[in-house]
Amino acid sequence: MRLNKYLADCGVDSRRNCDEIIAQGRVKVNGKTVTRLGVDVDPENDSVSLDGRRLRQKRRDVYVMLHKPKGVVCTAKDDKGRKTVLDLVDVKARLFPVGRLDYDTEGLLLLTTDGQLAQTLTHPSHHIPKTYVARIFGELSEEEEKSLEKGVLLDGALTQPASVKVVEKDERTSRIEITIFEGRNRQVRRMLESVGKDVEFLKRVSVGELRLGGLSRGKYRFLTEKEINYLKSL
Ligand code: URA
Repeated sequence: MRLNKYLADCGVDSRRNCDEIIAQGRVKVNGKTVTRLGVDVDPENDSVSLDGRRLRQKRRDVYVMLHKPKGVVCTAKDDKGRKTVLDLVDVKARLFPVGRLDYDTEGLLLLTTDGQLAQTLTHPSHHIPKTYVARIFGELSEEEEKSLEKGVLLDGALTQPASVKVVEKDERTSRIEITIFEGRNRQVRRMLESVGKDVEFLKRVSVGELRLGGLSRGKYRFLTEKEINYLKSL
């Protein structure tokens, strides 16, 4: 890795300013002053110091979007030995799921090493919109749609206003899009059950501005800088 990038990763300054700092003779690599630009260092084995103080690279947090499949749990370990979302992500870091999707639900799940962000985003005071596509048996009447939108009673408390759209219907089932602004346990299933509907299939397709898009079931990808900044801005 280039020395200026290493210094920037240690939080010294921007890469360009680090070039100046190097030229000023303030940086040593393995005890020897380096003033030449473009020198490479091995972050694992070289010792780099600035003004006599040893530097250490900051640990970079990892932010991942997984398309959780059905039949996988969101906890780190399962007493019943079922597959967990962590089994699907090949990252050597301690990841926390941001919220949960139940065993039978698939779709967008965020995972991060940034415990603070995970906690903030899942705190009940946060009302990030989460959109789900559900296939239910039968039809949803206009009345049922309105009542889901206004709020239904779950565990003695009304759900917050939601938005509900019937996207498609066939003789047997209806496809519904539902956006909720809270994250109670199995909320969408229980809301639909409260108006007498059984769910055949449930998938989360977005969290705030983040979309699952074409990410295949069981696959994951790292979030872009823009997506990370968006989450941090919430
Ligand atoms: N609603 C549900 O019913 N299940 C989930 O996993 C998320 C929301």
